[in-house]
Amino acid sequence: MKKMNIAIDGPSAAGKSTIAKLLAKQLKYVHLDTGAMYRCVALASKHHHLSVEDEEQIVSMIDKLEIVFDDLGNVFMNGQDVTKDIRENEISMLTSKVSTYPKVREKLVQRQQEMAKAKGYILDGRDIGTVVLPDAELKIYMIASVEARAKRRYQEYVEKGIDIAYDTIYKDIEERDYQDMNRKTSPLTKASDAVEIDTSSLNIQEVVDKILKLLTEVK
Ligand code: DC
Repeated sequence: MKKMNIAIDGPSAAGKSTIAKLLAKQLKYVHLDTGAMYRCVALASKHHHLSVEDEEQIVSMIDKLEIVFDDLGNVFMNGQDVTKDIRENEISMLTSKVSTYPKVREKLVQRQQEMAKAKGYILDGRDIGTVVLPDAELKIYMIASVEARAKRRYQEYVEKGIDIAYDTIYKDIEERDYQDMNRKTSPLTKASDAVEIDTSSLNIQEVVDKILKLLTEVK
C-alpha cells in the first residue's frame, strides 16, 4: 500500500494520541503529536516567565525552540526531556490559551506541513484535516462524551499517582472544549470529508481496527 497521510482531530482526551501511536507502530508510519508542540510553547513561556497574555514575546520565542520527538513518543525541547512536564494540568490550561494566537499557529503549522511532506505521517490535533493537511488521504474526527473522557483522564492520573479530583478534570475538559471550539483562528471543527468515530463505548483496539479498515477503503 502506498504511504499516505492520516489526519486525526477531535477534542482533548478523546484518545487521539493513544490511537495515533498504535496505528503508527502497526503501519510503520511516523506519529506527530501536534498538541505536544503547542504544549512545548506553553511550557517554554513558563520557563521564560512570560505572561500568557504576552503574545508578541511568546511568538518571538518560537524560532529558538527546537522540538524533537523520539521513536517512543518522548518529547525534547531544546535537548531537554519534557515528556512529563508538558502534560501537567497547569500547562494544559496554558496551552489552550497560547494556541489561540494566530502567529503561534502559523509557525507550528508550517513546521508540521514541512515534516509531513514525505508522507507516511499520522498527525493528531485540532486543525489537521481542516488547515494543516487538507489533502490528507484519510481524515478522522474522534469524539467522546465529556464523561467518558474525564473518566479516562482520571484513571490515567490515578495510575501515575497524581492526586487530582474527578470534578476538576471534568470541568477542565469542558473549559478546554469551549476554548478550542470558540477561538477565532482554526477552531476545532470537523472537516467536511472526515469520518467521525465516537470512542465513548469503544476500546482502543476497536478504534484502531475501524481506522485500519477505513484505510483499506481509501482510493
Ligand atoms: O491534544 P492536546 O490535548 O495535547 O492539545 C493541547 C492543546 O493544544 C489544546 O488545548 C488544543 C491545542 N491544539 C491546537 O490548538 N491545535 C492542534 N493541532 C493541537 C493542539
